[in-house]
Amino acid sequence: MATFHYEGEQFLLDNEPITIISGAIHYFRVVPQYWRDRLLKLKAGGFNTVETYVPWNLHEPQEGKFNFEGIADLEQFIKTAEEVGLHVIVRPSPYICAEWEFGGLPAWLLADSDMVLRCFYQPFLDKVDAYFDELLPRLEPLLCTNGGPIIAMQIENEYGSYGNDKQYLNYVKDSMIKRGVDVLLFTSDGPDHHMLQGGMIDGILETVNLGSRAEQGFAQLALYQQNKPKMVMEFWNGWFDHWREEHHTREADDVAAELDIIFKLNGSVNFYMFHGGTNFGFYNGANNPKYSPTVTSYDYDAPLNECGEPTEKFYAVRDVINKYFPLEPLVLPEPIAKKAYGTVTLQESAPLFSILDQIGTKTTAAYPLTMEKLGQDYGFTFYQTFVPAPRDTYPLEIQEVRDRATVYLDEEYIGVIERDVEDEPKITFDTPAPGATLSLLVENMGRTNYGPLLRDCKGITEGVRLGNQFLYGWDMYTLPLDNVTNIPFQQTMDDTNIIGVDNTKRPTFYRGSLHIADAEPADTFLKLEGWTKGVIFINGFNLGRYWSEGPQKTYYIPAPLLRSGTNEIVIFEIHETTAATITFVDQAEL
Ligand code: GLA
Repeated sequence: MATFHYEGEQFLLDNEPITIISGAIHYFRVVPQYWRDRLLKLKAGGFNTVETYVPWNLHEPQEGKFNFEGIADLEQFIKTAEEVGLHVIVRPSPYICAEWEFGGLPAWLLADSDMVLRCFYQPFLDKVDAYFDELLPRLEPLLCTNGGPIIAMQIENEYGSYGNDKQYLNYVKDSMIKRGVDVLLFTSDGPDHHMLQGGMIDGILETVNLGSRAEQGFAQLALYQQNKPKMVMEFWNGWFDHWREEHHTREADDVAAELDIIFKLNGSVNFYMFHGGTNFGFYNGANNPKYSPTVTSYDYDAPLNECGEPTEKFYAVRDVINKYFPLEPLVLPEPIAKKAYGTVTLQESAPLFSILDQIGTKTTAAYPLTMEKLGQDYGFTFYQTFVPAPRDTYPLEIQEVRDRATVYLDEEYIGVIERDVEDEPKITFDTPAPGATLSLLVENMGRTNYGPLLRDCKGITEGVRLGNQFLYGWDMYTLPLDNVTNIPFQQTMDDTNIIGVDNTKRPTFYRGSLHIADAEPADTFLKLEGWTKGVIFINGFNLGRYWSEGPQKTYYIPAPLLRSGTNEIVIFEIHETTAATITFVDQAEL
């Protein structure tokens, strides 16, 4: 058993002064086979602590059905950190932000139209309690007070950026204490007045989140909290990327200089991120007010890059740590092999329009239902109705589209309607008598994870109009794409004929095999030249979304997702591809 607490400005571990030098690694963004490697590198970098969030939606994918296996095996991650010699900070929230789908909240909360999030609303708190009943008993034996590595836990997350409901914050605090959490508790907020005021709780240590100007941040905190340890709970040493924006980087020297200031001020620190990893599957979040989804890579320009290699920043940061807290010579784990497996032709395909009944669940209703009302959390929803004719030509309006609809008239592609993209010309069409079938494939591109627009229902939230007239009578198919093994593929080309791609702009699944001759597969990166937008599946695992708009150019495939022999690659392309070929390269292109 260990004790971790503070006296005055000093953190004490077993009554010895300690500066927390922590780095964030999210177990849910790294395949479990690589947890040890990343944690060893954190330790080798001079850090003494790992910090992780806990995403509720990963652990309770359906209400009352819990998952703590594989990449969700939080306890194993914490035990591995302990074996490596690290302390652990856990931020279970219930809300985590983190550029993670819906800030970690389960999408099924939104099936209840009355649900109110992140405040003292008992139906919300009941769901939190049920989750904590499952989560916190797993963490209890791992607390330092019970001999484990967890030294501290956070209440909520940057709550002052969102609200000011102290009754709620105290409820979350008490929920943790009631379930045996007796380690140091803290909150974290941006260092603005309203954030500190909204996010702090009496008697609980406040920490600040910032990327620069630590001195000013600590000074502002001192207006609200004196004679307590100073800690930057999120030191943003890099940043994340949205689709269609520039890739973010931050100079290693700049990060090193800011860290130097934090240490000079006797601050403790948690690097957000030390290693970002990947937003696998449909788990990326999004920001507002102009809806901007986060890309698949969560490289974050962190000290370890997406595939776990130390970057220039790793060494620059280590030098600063070494200056204040002298380190042993650097010993890193063996580098992980990377390989360019070359080009693979996806010889089989399956057009979405002909397999809707096989891969989707159909519902019929007068008006279009949201994804959540259809009982679906992630992926795509297909909406179809009949438009009677003759009629004059009016613009097609979706009220509202969450987030991006590709539109088809009698199965012919006629355009795209995107959330918050106002400058596109409206879709209009002539409807041949006696009418035509209008189909909309709506992609949920990731729920908002930050800010006042957190409540982010997907699909079509109200209705579809031609001009001012709502269209009624809809068939809807849920397409969660959670099982690509049931897709009835057909051979559409052979090795010498790659002409067989469907260039009609209809959504299509493509399948092919990557043969790996070596006994041990290596890490690799998928390059999708000529493809437009869609989703990648490796041996049935949803690797994430791709989009030619960038900035992401290659998609990291960690070796544990591959096997020696035949690997099944499925690509769901929403628009079109110039060739049914994909290429595996041995380096990320940023
Ligand atoms: C805030 C949140 C984090 C993360 C960062 C930006 O500080 O608390 O979860 O979203 O912003 O990466």
